[in-house]
Amino acid sequence: MPAIKFYDHEPIPMEMHKVKIVQQLNLLPAEQRLQKMKDAGFNTFQLHNGDIFMDMLTDSGVNAMSDNQLAAMMTPDDAYAGSESFYRMVDKLEEIFGIKYCLPAHQGRACENILAERFVKPGNCVIMNYHFTTTKAHITRLGGHVEELVKDEGLEAVSDLPFKGDIDLDKLEACIAKEGAENVAFMRLEAGTNLIGGQPVSVQNFKDACAIARKHGIISVMDASLLQDNLYFNKIREEACKDMTIREITREIADQFDIIYFSARKFGFARGGAILVRDEALFHSMEDLVPMFEGFLTYGGMSVREIEAMTVGFDESMDMDIISQGPQFIKYCVDQLADYGVPMITPGGGLGAHVNASEFVSHISQEEYPAGALTCAFYICGGIRGMERGTLSEERNPDGSERLASMELVRLALPRRVFTLSQVEYVIDRVKWLYDHRDLVGGLKFVHEPKTLRFFTGRLEPTSDWPEKLAAAFIADFGEDQ
Ligand SMILES: Cc1ncc(COP(=O)(O)O)c(C=O)c1O
Repeated sequence: MPAIKFYDHEPIPMEMHKVKIVQQLNLLPAEQRLQKMKDAGFNTFQLHNGDIFMDMLTDSGVNAMSDNQLAAMMTPDDAYAGSESFYRMVDKLEEIFGIKYCLPAHQGRACENILAERFVKPGNCVIMNYHFTTTKAHITRLGGHVEELVKDEGLEAVSDLPFKGDIDLDKLEACIAKEGAENVAFMRLEAGTNLIGGQPVSVQNFKDACAIARKHGIISVMDASLLQDNLYFNKIREEACKDMTIREITREIADQFDIIYFSARKFGFARGGAILVRDEALFHSMEDLVPMFEGFLTYGGMSVREIEAMTVGFDESMDMDIISQGPQFIKYCVDQLADYGVPMITPGGGLGAHVNASEFVSHISQEEYPAGALTCAFYICGGIRGMERGTLSEERNPDGSERLASMELVRLALPRRVFTLSQVEYVIDRVKWLYDHRDLVGGLKFVHEPKTLRFFTGRLEPTSDWPEKLAAAFIADFGEDQ
């Protein structure tokens, strides 16, 4: 389908679907939002969904399903062992990725647990373009450490580099030389690199990095959770992919890897996960971990209904019309905000619009969690729930000091096919207002700090009465009912 042209204005992103089922939203007034934020310990993970107007926390498990997915969910084959739904999924994955051995798992981090259990020994290194929170936690839990080798430009907030998720090939060679290939458990490349702003990896970089790993006998693993966004960018930004279909690009990437895993809460528009293993012996060496942690080998902790929905979702992830909508909405949001002067991660990537909190609230030190504080401010000012992706999402160093994140981001995720453009306009408007009142935002400190993955369940409090002052300024401008 060609891009839609307009008669009297510039093109805007278009929804290539129509809405058939809706969920009513609730906009609490600012005064109540302030109280809800306090009740949630200034942690947006602890808010109740009914108190949220725009839930932009994540794209995970909250993408809108299609009529075809819902229809497929009506005809699953329920069996503890040997479910035909599972075999249909395996066939579809083989058709798309060209890999026939599949280990099911209930979500992405469950795949990571299995990979870490199988490959990581104390003292081992896992090389990555960039880490993801749960991936790193599994590796460090088992005594391994992570080396992140994304190109330096990938960590620059403002850039026109088209593939900011690319791994630095010189750093990769140097790291292997330093660690010793035998000490590298595996190399993991993350498509659509989440924590640096949903930034894509080029096909060429996938190829070059995997060739280096192969040369050194290192297992190559792709985290394909955000592959569908990555594929969109390969198609529109990479010259060599211009005339290829999405399926051809997928295959070109997949052919480089020994193992591919994904969260189907993202890839597949459903809820589940799987690990694809090219080599039969390697596959068998991991098999026993599935019944141990997940469930029998033909459901892996997933409901067969979800397996049917995923199978349809994989096909939909190969459709350029479908995969274009998210990145186009994100670009629209990022461009509008950047034009206003709001510090954004550019170019816009997949997954969501990422606000550069280090600059937005540059008066807050990293020890007082600028991205965490800004996330709370978005909720107070608009009922918008984003996710902190900065120091608060890190774990402390072994000596108890803060590990300061290389980027302080607030992610405003755009779950796929969920929001309309007018809702995106609302978010843009509230972010602009907050930017003009950014001096009112202050820091946060922990009152309850879990040791692992503290951002999920930790409780914080403001370092002053800034939330009250912010809410008062908002009410003065918009009135008590907004
Ligand atoms: C790149 C990436 N890998 C892995 C995961 C973990 O997947 P899940 O949330 O299904 O456990 C996520 C989740 O956000 C992710 O973004």
